[in-house]
Order: sequence, then structure tokens, then C-alpha cells
Amino acid sequence: MKRFSALLILCILSIKVYSQAAISDIPVSTITESVNYTSEIAIIPEPVSLTKTAGHFTLPANVVIHSPANPELKQIVSFLQERLSIPTGSFVSNVSDKSSKATVNLILNDKINAFIGKEGYTLTVTPSLITIKANKPAGLFYGVQSLIQLFPKEIESKERVKNIEWMAPCVEVTDYPRVGWRGLMFDVARHFFTKSEVKQYIDAMVRYKYNLLHLHLADDEGWRIEIKGLPKLTEVGAWRVNKVGEFGNFIPPTVEEPRTYGGFYTQEDIKEIVQYARDRFVDIMPEIDVPGHSLAAIVSYPELSCTPGAESYRVRSGERIMDWSKGAPPIALLDNTLCPANEKVYTFLDSVISQVAKLFPFEYIHLGGDEAPINYWEKNDSIRVLMKREGLKNMHQVQGYFEKRVQKIVESKGKKFMGWDEILDGDMPASVGVMSWRGIKYGIDASKNKHEVVMSPTTFAYLDYMQADQITEPRVYASLRLRKSYEFDPIPAGADPKYIKGGQANLWTEQIYNIRQAEYMTWPRGMAIAESVWSPAEKKNWTTFFSKVEQHFKRMDIAETKYAPSVYDPIFSVSRSADKQLMIELTTEVDGLDIYYSFDNSFPDRFYPKYTEKLMPPKDATMLKVITYKGKIPVGRMMNMPIDELNKRASKK
Ligand code: ACM
Repeated sequence: MKRFSALLILCILSIKVYSQAAISDIPVSTITESVNYTSEIAIIPEPVSLTKTAGHFTLPANVVIHSPANPELKQIVSFLQERLSIPTGSFVSNVSDKSSKATVNLILNDKINAFIGKEGYTLTVTPSLITIKANKPAGLFYGVQSLIQLFPKEIESKERVKNIEWMAPCVEVTDYPRVGWRGLMFDVARHFFTKSEVKQYIDAMVRYKYNLLHLHLADDEGWRIEIKGLPKLTEVGAWRVNKVGEFGNFIPPTVEEPRTYGGFYTQEDIKEIVQYARDRFVDIMPEIDVPGHSLAAIVSYPELSCTPGAESYRVRSGERIMDWSKGAPPIALLDNTLCPANEKVYTFLDSVISQVAKLFPFEYIHLGGDEAPINYWEKNDSIRVLMKREGLKNMHQVQGYFEKRVQKIVESKGKKFMGWDEILDGDMPASVGVMSWRGIKYGIDASKNKHEVVMSPTTFAYLDYMQADQITEPRVYASLRLRKSYEFDPIPAGADPKYIKGGQANLWTEQIYNIRQAEYMTWPRGMAIAESVWSPAEKKNWTTFFSKVEQHFKRMDIAETKYAPSVYDPIFSVSRSADKQLMIELTTEVDGLDIYYSFDNSFPDRFYPKYTEKLMPPKDATMLKVITYKGKIPVGRMMNMPIDELNKRASKK
């Protein structure tokens, strides 16, 4: 994450309601019946075309999967076998001949169906047979994901569930993604997540047809990948002091405090994770964030810095190292940048990049490029010499020089270079990919300049931002509610769609201390982004989407994946009356909720006053407690809002 100017403290929602637009790009013959989203069908992301047909399919005790004897399908078959057999207790076998009658038929099209492309599929469920057809194995895998979502929620169980009729509604589905890059970024640098936690994260993302995991492997708080010949990166750079609380302003650690918190992936671990992901049709893009965000590398090898004294630096444990008060780029309080004027830096990066290139088969390597402070460069003699020698006029050009040198290294290893949108300041060639994070503007411009672009704007896709009021959420400097995430359009007006590879949501983990919280921050916004990058724009509909999300909450409960219920928490808005009294307005992000409240410190329930109009707190009240209900069921969390806090907010206006 990072930071972005107060401007983007966007987020307490601008609410826009989508109208149900025409379904324009599906074969007309398939639009025979609009789908009624009862609890029965709730596929996320919304398929291109789904027609409910008569009847139901019931899973027998012996399930037979027919599939061609193609090694590429082996993983899909075992995935489906596992997903069906564990919760149902059915015996699920696989045959490649026609000796026994199929229950599930996986077919790779002999004749390519151009309509569904490389990742699309058709899924037909009749009372006696399930058929998934695709041009490529990936399509079959996505068809399997949709199929699983048709079965009762208990299909998500990790253990056998008895007394369920394993019925799926009969349907005809034709489906394919809107964009080819459907990514989630997982920052394993700020907090380390184990190999099995990364796999757990992958398991959750494939349910929603994501196909790209961007691993942020190096930052000020940790270096997370073994590099042969550079042992200190993981002996020193992967460890810091364990601290909890509000990251960013921790008391600087003393030398005595143990630096035992962290970890890294060995090269064998990386191979295992890459294979695990590949088996699930997920590519992994590694990121080594340079030249800024490089404190862990500098602490390991201080000669990579151009600042004397870097030998005394330590891996950041969450203490303040940047001053953001003047916006970006930040003023560094210690120099966390690699030195663009130092040849050793390029030798170092050559070694790192050549090993990273071998470990990750994906075409791109991400080299960061964001938020590099320039205040140490400005006063550095070697940078001055470099500028003179290369005719560089300002610090943007200094960073541009660095980026171009790194780009050449990346390309010399047969890979493509990707960076955060700041790299555009350095006048990079069109062969570099751009990840647009400071809004969509940079991505639009880059696409027009023929850069391949991935849209991952803070505005819609920053999963580290708070999902509701800071009174209930772990404190981060900005908010992004589910409804706003759902507005994400990876191909915005003005962009050249030919160069937009897709979209991605980013989970920065400064404030995320464990995998449960990583899941909480990812879901349900990850569902909103998944639908934005997979489903046709015309098929997106907030009301329908949210009704599906509620079904998926129940599925996630059974899958034991954590999610945020923040969408049910009310939104507080404050104003002052003509006589300067505090006025409190409560609204909700979703329809159909009732808000109950108290000012007397007791816990409201549905027998308390129901919110109907702006509230004026009684004179001596100190606390407003609120909770939302759906009918008789409490769905929101008990929110304790101090009146002082609301007064402060009103005074700021
Ligand atoms: C970023 O969030 N600094 C890419």
C-alpha cells in the first residue's frame, strides 16, 4: 500500500445504483428465461448466459466422471473428485472410456467453439447428466467452479455432511471471461504468510475464477524469497520485531528486541506454490519492489544504498520511516531506496531477477517502481555525477534511468517488465506493462501509448482499505465499501481496450496480521472484483449481486473462509442544525435493513427505537449504539459510536 493522497480518501461512498441493462453479447437463442435468483442459483461471477431448464439433477452414491485421457485434465478431475466426495461421501470415479454411464462428462471440444475462447465453457445440467465442454482445460476448470456453486451450500464442507439431497438445478450455461487478467495481489512482505496459507488463499480465489496471483515478495518490512548467493536477504532481511497494534507508528524497536518475526519461501517452496497454483489455472506474478520500498534488501546489503550510514538500518517493524504530510513521493526519514548510480545494484538485481525468472514461469516480473522517495538522491554526490554523465535533468529521469536498466535485465531473462504506474514518469518504452493504481487515469493514458495495462485502482480495488466505519474496522487511512468495489470497470471509457489486459485487486498487509484477517479483507470485495473482471458489464447488477453475496456468506461459513460482514454496518453522516446542534444521519449500503439505536449505553435490539429520520443526541448522551436487522435477524454488528467522535467529524466539515 501504501499511501495515496488524501484526495483518494475516497471512500465513504458515492453510491450509484446500477440499472439492469440489456444483455447484448450473448447468443440470442439462449436468452429464453431470465433467471430468478432464489437461493437456488447464485453463481459468482455472473455467467454470460444462464438459462434455468426443467428439473433437477441429484448426485448418485456412485459418481462417474468421464474425461478424455489427457494429462492436463488430471488435476481438474481430482479437484472435482475431492470437492464432490468429501462433503457427500459419494464414491467418485474417473473413466476415460465409455464403459460405465457418466454422471459428469468433461469434454474438450474437437471443433473449437470460437465464441467461448480459451477460458470459456458450456455447462449443461439435465436430470440425468452434467456436461461441461470447453476448448481448453482452463474452461473445464471454470465450468467445474460454476457447477459446484449449483449444489447446496454444504458442498463447501471440509467433512462429510449427512442427510442432504445433493441436488443441482438443471441449467444451460454459456460463459467466458470479460478480460484475461483476473488478479489478486497478496502482500506477503509486510506480514509473512506461510506456504500453506498462500495455498489457502489460492483455494479461495479459484472459486471466483481468478487466474493471477501477484505475490509482493519484498518491501521495507521483509524479503521473502531465497536467492542463492545472497544469503543475507533471508538471514537478515526476512526478520523483524513482532509488534501488534496500529502499524505505522510503532515505537522504534530497541536493539535488544528479538528479530524473530517473519519468514521466507525457499526456492523449493516457491516451486511448490507455483505448481499448486498452476494445477488450479492460476499464474503467479512475482514482485520485487525497487528502487523504493527496499529497506529489507539494504539492511541485508547496505552497499546497495548511496547513503552513508545505511549499515545501521534495520528491517522495518512498523515504526515511522516516511513523512507523508506533503503527499507523494514521501519524504524518507531513512533512505529505503536502491542507489541508481551504483553498479553493484544492477549486479544484485541481475542475480535476483535471473533466479526469479527461472522460478516463475509467468511472462511478467513486477519490479515495483512506486513511491520512491527522492530526498536522499537529491543530496547525493554519486547521483549528481550520474545525472551529469547521462544528461538527466530531474529525479524522475533518475528513476527512469534506473527503471530502463532494470527493464533490460528483465528482458535479458526472456521476461516482460511490469511496474506500478509511477514508472511512466521515466518515459518507458511501450514494451513495459503498467499497473494503474493511482486511479484509472494512468492506465488509460498508458493504454493509449500502447503499454499493456492492468487496472488496479485504489478507487475500487484496494482491499486493505476499511470496509465500513473506522469505529468497527481496523484503522487504515481510507475506506472502500463493497458497493464501490462493485463499480469497478477494468476497461474504463477512454482506454484503448486492446491494451487493457485486465484488472486486479490488491491486498496490502501492513494492518493484516494473520490469514483470517487477510480473508476478512478480501471477501466479499473479492467477489465484486471477480464479477467486474469476468462478467459482461451489462450483466452486472448490484441488487442481484448482493443477493448472491448473501448466499456466498453461508457458503463461506461452511468452507470456514472468513469474510467481512461490514456491508451490513450503517453509514454515519453528520451535520449541524441552524442552531449548531449535531444531526446524525444513518444510511445503509444495502436495501431492506432496519437500524435500531440507543443513546443510553444499553445494547439496542429490534425492540428499541427504529431509525427513521436524522437523530439529534440528547444533551448528556455520550454514546450512540446502533445495530442493523433484516426482519427479525440481527445482521450488522453492534456499533459503539462516541458522540464526541461525531462532534469531531461535524466540526471538520
Ligand atoms: C502502491 O499501492 N503503492 C502500489
